[in-house]
Amino acid sequence: MKIGSLQLSGNLVLAPLSGITDYPFRQIAREHGCSLAFTEMVSADGLLQKGKSFLRIGEGEHPVSVQLFGSNPEILAEAAQMAESVGADAIDINMGCPAKQIVGPGAGADLMRFPGKVKEILRAVRRAVRSPLSVKIRSGWDEEHINAAEISKISEDCGVDAISIHPRTRVQGYGGRADWDLIGKVKRAIRIPVVGNGDITTPFLARRMLEETGCDGVMIGRGALGNPWIFGLDDSGCGEAEPTAPTLDERKRMIHHHFALVKAYYGKRWAAKKFQKHVYWYTKGLRGCASFHSKLSGLKEEEELLEAIQSYFDFVQRRTPCQSFVSTGNRSVIGRGEKGL
Ligand SMILES: Cc1cc2nc3c(=O)[nH]c(=O)nc-3n(C[C@H](O)[C@H](O)[C@H](O)COP(=O)(O)O)c2cc1C
Repeated sequence: MKIGSLQLSGNLVLAPLSGITDYPFRQIAREHGCSLAFTEMVSADGLLQKGKSFLRIGEGEHPVSVQLFGSNPEILAEAAQMAESVGADAIDINMGCPAKQIVGPGAGADLMRFPGKVKEILRAVRRAVRSPLSVKIRSGWDEEHINAAEISKISEDCGVDAISIHPRTRVQGYGGRADWDLIGKVKRAIRIPVVGNGDITTPFLARRMLEETGCDGVMIGRGALGNPWIFGLDDSGCGEAEPTAPTLDERKRMIHHHFALVKAYYGKRWAAKKFQKHVYWYTKGLRGCASFHSKLSGLKEEEELLEAIQSYFDFVQRRTPCQSFVSTGNRSVIGRGEKGL
């Protein structure tokens, strides 16, 4: 997939996830084959007020797309320039966030209600930066106002290089199922690349979205939580069945590797607190996880968190017979010959 002048190595990309897709998480996804990672949404106003230090792009972290939210064309344009100067390989404008504090001041999904404003913003940002520019949209505001194809066409006419679409309305939030048919409709309405998004939890579903909708790339959000392997797994031959899960040893190694990145990025003082949610996701669905999860929020120091992880994995290893089914949340899979089980 190519977004403007940016040639990607594949067609699976990491979605922007506020509070989650920080540098360590993006790095982990990249190491597993993700071809483009989006930052969490960054306030255009905040970036201009606080300056470049508000946006941290890691060394060697490329390609990365910086997602901006805001409602003022000039401020968004200036913020896009700043993001470009900090090292963004691409700029993305958020037109899909449903949160009250974002749509209230007229940003995120609220913009889809005002095609004229969309045009003003995209023209201003396009004039301001040379970097590849994309827009992330939803289906529309509500069932009565599904205008994703119209907004995509406007974006294309303003010089935008790609559209990603999460086909739920703002009113739907994250409920119900993503309407993949709409991804196909958007794809047929424009010539620039379309990245489909919504409910991808396995490589098989990613392949199915590509085939059913004709989209050029697939964006994965929640399916990557505690599961960076999703970017690297081959779907060939897995059919409707789920692919093989990582072994307990692989999971444990990943937790330690991810934690080391988090510690290097945030410092020892904040590392455990920042990492608790990832431990939750890496262990979701494993045997006896509920009782382990209930203790996580109390583990604020590195040593106590790592010790709890070790004893939990010892417990699971003792209790999991070789080749038994290991449930991993939304996936029910066969462990790959756990050693010593
Ligand atoms: C916790 C959370 C944070 C999110 N933050 C952002 C964000 O900063 N910008 C954005 O455009 N979308 C954001 N989204 C939406 C996701 O990028 C994605 O569109 C949505 O989760 C559907 O894809 P999925 O089913 O693969 O998760 C967020 C979603 C979640 C669950």
